[in-house]
Amino acid sequence: MPDTTYVDYSTKIPNNVNLASDNRVLKALEQWHPGYIDWWMTMGPDGFQTSDVFLRTAVSIDPKGWAKFDYVKMPDYRWGILLAPQDEERRVNFGAHMGEKAWQEVPGEYRAMLRRLVVIQGDTEPASVEQQRFLGKTAPSLYDMRNLFQVNVEEGRHLWAMVYLLQKYFGRDGREEAQGLLERRSGDADKPRMLGAFNEETPDWLSFFMFTFFTDRDGKMQLESLAQSGFDPMSRTCRFMLTEEAHHMFVGETGVGRVIERTCEAMKAAGIEDPFDMARIRALGVVDLPTIQKKANLHYSLSLDLFGSEVSTNAANFFNAGLKGRFMETRIEDDHQLTSATYPVLKLVDGDIRTVDEPALTAINMRLRDDYTKDCQGGVSRWNRIMEKAGIKFQLTLPSVAFNRKIGEFKGIEASPEGKLLTAEQWMKMRDQWLPSKADGDFVASLMQPCWDRGKYAGWIAAPKVGIDQKPGDFEYVKIHRG
Ligand SMILES: [Fe+2]
Ligand SMILES: [Fe+2]
Repeated sequence: MPDTTYVDYSTKIPNNVNLASDNRVLKALEQWHPGYIDWWMTMGPDGFQTSDVFLRTAVSIDPKGWAKFDYVKMPDYRWGILLAPQDEERRVNFGAHMGEKAWQEVPGEYRAMLRRLVVIQGDTEPASVEQQRFLGKTAPSLYDMRNLFQVNVEEGRHLWAMVYLLQKYFGRDGREEAQGLLERRSGDADKPRMLGAFNEETPDWLSFFMFTFFTDRDGKMQLESLAQSGFDPMSRTCRFMLTEEAHHMFVGETGVGRVIERTCEAMKAAGIEDPFDMARIRALGVVDLPTIQKKANLHYSLSLDLFGSEVSTNAANFFNAGLKGRFMETRIEDDHQLTSATYPVLKLVDGDIRTVDEPALTAINMRLRDDYTKDCQGGVSRWNRIMEKAGIKFQLTLPSVAFNRKIGEFKGIEASPEGKLLTAEQWMKMRDQWLPSKADGDFVASLMQPCWDRGKYAGWIAAPKVGIDQKPGDFEYVKIHRG
């Protein structure tokens, strides 16, 4: 195969890191690439690999024109390595090294810590692609199918971004870690992905929208805090990833919003006022609002676990070392070293949920999680306005942080969505009222019939307000090659 034995990786990989003159890294990426493609073909979207998908590709870092839209077959997507521009004056903005010039190389003493941060972030990127791999087949429209694949190829690019850091700055162990990122599998009993939420199933499109709303938003918060890093290449990488991440959250928020909109519309057309009249609502072929609440409960609580323990010496060490800061670190008005500050943490005290002041340094995770909750609440409030406008009396809420937790302060207890402590028996009795039951899952699954006609949408979801890249309503976002 003469055409494929030589690939010019410097032109194949859009980059602003001067790959063409970085022979060592170019070679390392070249060696990693076949394994990546193999992973994409076996663990990426099931089917559709020969379809032409209207995708955006990051081609530069110019804020006004960083992406171009065109039809691409997914395996030919140009997964580039793009870092936000370097600022020569940039400093370490927090922790023990505050005020030093930002590091362009990995500080020897923090090598292991930094590698761990890169690997954990990197591991989530392919994991979500694996979790979503069967969704194309049940896409409710070509528009949604395209958005799914857009998110998938960008998570693939985020894996590349982390692998670039590993190959460029971590030598041999970086190479081994890059390999490991291709070997773990979401949900695999023997070699699972590193974090819990990334081993859960994403069985249907409502789960996909909830995942991109809640779990990609955890990703956003992690990237925001890594974008503060004193290790400049990490900061620059994450800053650019955030520009893509915004679209993933858009997909989640508008996706759930469109489901709510359609349900309200169908209820009104049928003259149903009671949102809990579930049998009649489901008979209309739309998702009842209480089921949407249960899905939100599940995905929010799983995502809270991703922030780790509320009180954590690891998080304190990352901060102190200048490797991982707080959300909007440079805009916070304090000493950025947290030598004596405290932060209120919700804890389990004598069988009661109470606020306790902890040293702010060890409460870094808690603070990031609080910022996350605020960000989630914004989206939930916008969903609630859709119901209000439609005149349907139902409001979605975020459950208590004590609800359904597997990590941190509340992992050993059961609590209601309102934060009331329960016995195991009480919990078991109520569980199916608060989290999706088998029957709920079966019902949602029954709605997942593909709708692939141009400009058409499955009956359980409303059409979007605007097209991608200002395309008209009947635009063919995916050209599926059948037969
Ligand atoms: Fe990502
Ligand atoms: Fe994402």
